[in-house]
Parts: sequence; structure tokens; C-alpha cells
Amino acid sequence: MKTLITGAAGFIGSHLCEALVKDHQIIGLDNFCDFYDPKIKENNISFLQGSPNFKLVKTDIRNQLELAEVFKANKFDLVIHLAAMAGVRPSIENPQLYTEVNINGTVNLLEECRKHNVKNFIFASSSSVYGNNKKVPFAESDPVDHPISPYASTKKAGELICHTYHHLHQMSMACLRFFTVYGPRQRPDLAIRKFSRMMLNGEEIPVFGDGSTKRDYTYIDDIIDGILKAIDFVLSGNKYDVFNLGESQTISLTKMIQTIENTLEIKAKKKILPMQPGDVEQTYADISKSKTILGYNPETDFETGIAKFIDWLKIQ
Ligand SMILES: NC(=O)c1ccc[n+]([C@@H]2O[C@H](COP(=O)([O-])OP(=O)(O)OC[C@H]3O[C@@H](n4cnc5c(N)ncnc54)[C@H](O)[C@@H]3O)[C@@H](O)[C@H]2O)c1
Repeated sequence: MKTLITGAAGFIGSHLCEALVKDHQIIGLDNFCDFYDPKIKENNISFLQGSPNFKLVKTDIRNQLELAEVFKANKFDLVIHLAAMAGVRPSIENPQLYTEVNINGTVNLLEECRKHNVKNFIFASSSSVYGNNKKVPFAESDPVDHPISPYASTKKAGELICHTYHHLHQMSMACLRFFTVYGPRQRPDLAIRKFSRMMLNGEEIPVFGDGSTKRDYTYIDDIIDGILKAIDFVLSGNKYDVFNLGESQTISLTKMIQTIENTLEIKAKKKILPMQPGDVEQTYADISKSKTILGYNPETDFETGIAKFIDWLKIQ
């Protein structure tokens, strides 16, 4: 199977390439943007260099002409679209960039799929589409009409445009709402990696709010398992559906810091700061639909996941 993975050099993309490279012929597309150090991304996929089943294409999904060349040169069976400007807070500073990459870039890809008759598509959405949903856990049937950051709005827009292409062009689709993903190679801007690194360096960590905000942290292996199951789902017919991929377990910010402290055996020096605009109070995934339809079954509890992450971080 020939598979295009966009955002292949990123955190989740590099793990997905690792999981698929035995069975799929992968074209890994990435523009190595400087949202964080591109050298980290080169490192993420360095183990794939030389693999006969992996080819890296340095292209920007905003560039329709270059995308067209990639689709002309390859007959894809499946596209897994992970490339995006990620991150909630920076999207408030630069909403145009998030719109160009996350919305226009997604439409560019869908257009190439339409023109080249590629029928299977997976879209990386986000738990942020739920905004400050009061009902927990968050279910796919809950209304998601009140996103509170440009990033969240672009992800909701992505889900909608995917549905349109499913409806008009019979493309089989799964939109996956990832809940805060962590583990080896985690993005350096995300709190678990940032805090762990700062604590190892003896630096003060910025704590936004009183520590009561909660996240449903999802270990990378469980996310990859969910994506693999979503591949089977889209390949099994002409479908469209949205799925939560989380652990269905909430961890407060205070508990997250304590778990890192216990694992590192270092007491954090905290700088307490006000809550940041765009940050939601909690995320909590109802995963019953993903369990029933996809057979998704996350297995990694937070303490185990953090221990594996810290083992990896210490050798970086
Ligand atoms: N990590 C999480 O907790 C999380 C949670 C919810 C959703 N997501 C989504 O999952 C996907 C992957 O996230 P990640 O954490 O691996 O992020 P990441 O930043 O590590 O990976 C994204 C990759 O996309 C590439 N990219 C960015 N703009 C591009 C462009 N214009 N053209 C081509 N490539 C481009 C980047 O260079 C990067 O390698 C994203 O769509 C993100 O929004 C992630």
C-alpha cells in the first residue's frame, strides 16, 4: 500500500512512519517549519533514512504546484494528514498562518486527492474543538460550535471540509480528535517535555493557573494504535466518522507536575502565573465510540507513560 503521511517528521508523524514502514510504501512529506527546531525533526526520522519503504519529500502543503507534482509521481492508496501548525497559544498571535496551513493546506491536499482519485483519508483533529464544553467526558456527539482559539477553529474547519469531500467525492474518511499526546519525541513546546527539561536544568517552571486545569494525556503508543485501527476503518468502505483518541482519564496540572517530580526525584520550582487565553479548563475523552467501532483500547496509564518518557528524555 502506498501511503502519504504529511507532517512525517513531527512528533506523531515520526512514530506513525515507524509503525507503518514495514507494511506500507511511505512518502513522508514535511516542510520542516521552524515552529520548533527543525533539527529535532531531522533527528525524529533519521532512523528511516535508507529504508527502502520510506521516501522523504520536503514540501509545503500550502504550495499546490509542488503538491500536484507529488501526487503525479505517486499513486497513493491512502493519505494520513498530520501536518499542521500545532499549538493553541501561538495561534492567537498568528491566526492567518494557522488558517493558511491548517485550512488552506488541508483543502490543497483534498483537491489533489480528488484529482488523482485517492479515496482514503485520515485527518488529525484535536480535543481542542470541544472548547470549554461543560459536559464531561467529551463525546463526539457533543456540539462543538464554540472553539476558543484559532487553532481549535481550524481543526473544526478541517473536519467539516473532510465531510464535504466525503459527500461530494466518495472519499472514505476518519477525523481523529487526539487528546494531549505525550511520550518520546514529544514536541518541545508541550508542557510535559518543557517542564521535565527545565526541572533537569534546575530552572523555575511557569505554572498557568492554580493547578486545577485537567488534561486527558494520551501516550503516543495508544495514539498510534488508534491511527492503525482508523486505517482499517477507512479501508473497509466509503465512510465518514469522527473519533476521540484519548485515555479517558483526567490528570490535573498539579498531579502532572507531581508525577514528573516523583519520576525525576527533583522538586519543581514553580512560578505561578495567570491562566492563558485560549487554554481550556479540562479535556476528558469519552472513548466508548472509538472502542466500539474501531476496537481502540488504550493501555498506558500516566505513571507508566511518564516513566517511559523520562527514560527517553534522559538519553537525549
Ligand atoms: N501532540 C498533540 O498533543 C496533538 C493533540 C491534538 C492534535 N494534534 C495534531 O496532530 C498532528 C501532529 O501533531 P504533532 O504534535 O506531531 O506536531 P508536530 O509539530 O511535531 O508535527 C507537525 C509536522 O507538520 C509539519 N508542517 C507544519 N506546517 C507544514 C506545512 N505547511 N507543510 C508541510 N509540513 C508542515 C511540521 O514541520 C511538523 O514536522 C497535528 O495536526 C496536530 O494539530 C496533536
